[in-house]
Amino acid sequence: MPVKSDFLASTIEHIDILNHDVRPIVDAMSKMAFSARDLARAAEIYDRMLADTDCGVILCLAGSLISAGLKKVFVDLIRANMVDAIVSTGANIVDQDFFEALGFRHYIAEERLRAGLDDSTLRDLHIDRIYDTLIDEDELRICDEATKIVADSLEHRPYSSREFIREMGAYLDRVGCKATDSIIYEAYKADVPIFCPAFSDCSAGFGLVAHQHERGDGPKVSIDSVKDFYELTQLKVKNPSTGLFMIGGGVPKNFAQDIVVAAEIIGEDAPMHKYAIQITVADVRDGALSGSTLKEASSWGKVDTTYEQMVYSEATLAVPLIAGYAYHVGSWKARQGKKWATLLDAVAQVS
Ligand SMILES: NC(=O)c1ccc[n+]([C@@H]2O[C@H](COP(=O)([O-])OP(=O)(O)OC[C@H]3O[C@@H](n4cnc5c(N)ncnc54)[C@H](O)[C@@H]3O)[C@@H](O)[C@H]2O)c1
Repeated sequence: MPVKSDFLASTIEHIDILNHDVRPIVDAMSKMAFSARDLARAAEIYDRMLADTDCGVILCLAGSLISAGLKKVFVDLIRANMVDAIVSTGANIVDQDFFEALGFRHYIAEERLRAGLDDSTLRDLHIDRIYDTLIDEDELRICDEATKIVADSLEHRPYSSREFIREMGAYLDRVGCKATDSIIYEAYKADVPIFCPAFSDCSAGFGLVAHQHERGDGPKVSIDSVKDFYELTQLKVKNPSTGLFMIGGGVPKNFAQDIVVAAEIIGEDAPMHKYAIQITVADVRDGALSGSTLKEASSWGKVDTTYEQMVYSEATLAVPLIAGYAYHVGSWKARQGKKWATLLDAVAQVS
């Protein structure tokens, strides 16, 4: 009879862009064709965003990126002031980053297991699978419970996901972050706001459901997604020059793009996002959001077309090259962190 440790033996290790100078390969790709040249252009545009010190950089994350080994890339971008705000799915931030910050890991589903991987055996052992990656579901339950502990500790009122995630950072500060690298904790320390517009659709949702159930008719913590939208729009209004680095599509892509329109709705004259790059595996045929081109977004008044680039690639291949290129070119060294979380705390007080 197999046991859990038969499956949860080899951990996913996060790639370290600081140790790999990818400039020569990306430069060489710029003289090739097809996706290689698209990727090199996206890397050059990301560097351009960073060289433009007025530009606020918004990183958008969808897909299962942290469990896939990209966590340290995003942590290093925060540490190097290469990102000013993050808009993500809850899965990346809570189920995966917060989960690792609590001391848990993601595991490689070994070849021999993948060959005849029996998901019903995994079910019996409380092991969850994301394609070739495994997670201990009992540990995930502890992650759900930790979000409930955070909710229970707060004043009972509506919060933006941004405010709640900042409290998760404060919680890690109190109890001790058990991972060397954590997006939530690093963003908390660097005043980089993190938004999860569909916050309940992840591990945090379970914790918040348990919190609200326990509170019954009494006052309780709730998540106000309009407050998220308002706060992110305020960033656009107060810092009109913006660039998007989008990984995957989904809710984060549209939410971040829509703040240009939202600014207009509240009577502010905000320009389109000046720079935009997107890495996605989706294509345009289904007319869906995730594969819609950035040129298409310009028809909606969201993205300027001078510096935009779609890269059709799976993220684990393209992100280390694009982020690594910009890191090693080093234009970010002239940038100051915009500390947008502090600015938003002031907005939240008056709204
Ligand atoms: N992904 C998970 O493992 C997971 C787990 C729990 C909850 N959720 C929740 O489900 C909802 C959907 O999130 P999602 O992250 O699954 O988004 P999603 O599957 O809707 O992804 C959006 C699009 O991004 C692109 N994409 C995704 N992964 C990519 C990759 N590796 N490389 C390139 N492009 C990629 C694809 O085009 C995809 O259609 C969110 O609310 C999330 O919190 C997701």
